Amino acid sequence: MKIVCLPGDGIGPEVTAQALRVLRELPLDAEVAELPFGGAAIDASGEPLPAATLAACCGADAVLLGAVGGPQWQPGLAESGLLALRRELDVYANLRPAGDLLVVRELVGGLYFGARGVREDGTVFDTCEYHPAQVERVALRAFELARARRGALVSVDKANVLDTSRLWRRVVTEVGRQYPDVEVRHALVDSFSIEIALQPEALDVVLTENMFGDILSDLASGMLGGLGVAASASLGDAGPGIFEPIHGSAPDIVGTGVANPTAMLRSLALLLDHAAERVDLARAVESAVDAALVSAPTRDVGGEATTVEFTDEVLRSLEVAVS
Ligand code: NAD
Ligand code: IPM
Ligand code: MN
Repeated sequence: MKIVCLPGDGIGPEVTAQALRVLRELPLDAEVAELPFGGAAIDASGEPLPAATLAACCGADAVLLGAVGGPQWQPGLAESGLLALRRELDVYANLRPAGDLLVVRELVGGLYFGARGVREDGTVFDTCEYHPAQVERVALRAFELARARRGALVSVDKANVLDTSRLWRRVVTEVGRQYPDVEVRHALVDSFSIEIALQPEALDVVLTENMFGDILSDLASGMLGGLGVAASASLGDAGPGIFEPIHGSAPDIVGTGVANPTAMLRSLALLLDHAAERVDLARAVESAVDAALVSAPTRDVGGEATTVEFTDEVLRSLEVAVS
């Protein structure tokens, strides 16, 4: 299979390098091409998503991505490359597992992609828009996932205020009729955030729109191990998915060698499962990472191992599993 690796910025290259070390040890016929993306691509060519990078992603079976952004670039410019890539690949369903819960975040609509601008009087605006079909397709994905899990889905919105949320609630309710085996609950995002903070393990699938999903998935991962361990898979209907940690470029620790590669390695496991259809290898990587979290934790999870030492430990357990 063809994998495009986009290391990006900050700790992005530090953690993608570990994922490639692990990938090389797996019995999988994978051809990897690394391409410039984000701030690194701005420095090299003036734009965050160069045409050659996009073309390579479109022609790949999967995209393995580190992180983008940092204080050295114009605010939002490196990030705009990531948004454009998600949109171009139409990866509308962003799966963000944290502990036993799974956040399903709509990824290519809402406030991130609505009309924006500046009016003559200086007012700045971003608009939130959803088409019913955009809600329907991500809801179908979330119900399918819920059916294969514990069969409980909470749809999170702000239907007491926003029209887009009232649309969201109506469409999710309609889709839910096709899934009598899944128990659906609708919750308002403000009070629901307390549930995630206090009882994350009581939840199964959490379905929500783009912006709420961004915030709630960081909150959920913060309650269940931290940003350093939380992975994601962004999937469309056809074409390559994007597999990336939910954390960013961590400018505060870049270059110190302490970044936790767990989120990146778990993203590789999601790639092995969803794109390579090698659930056996995905499980092997997950188990090796779980073992390393106990035997050689990095600083963010209470240990002293460096990024490279953690991965050495992963490779040691993996050797036994895949040989
Ligand atoms: P961040 O996730 O980069 O960092 C938040 C905190 O978590 C920091 O203290 C950081 O050191 C820590 N952290 C994150 N990942 C870690 C890891 N693997 N190991 C150990 N500690 C880790 O969030 P931020 O500081 O709000 O954002 C920094 C930059 O990253 C911004 O430019 C933002 O736009 C960008 N960003 C990019 C992505 C992405 O590429 N998908 C995601 C989030 C943020
Ligand atoms: C994430 C990030 C991105 C988002 C930014 C960098 C555009 O925070 O992947 O969670 O908000 O989607
Ligand atoms: Mn985020």
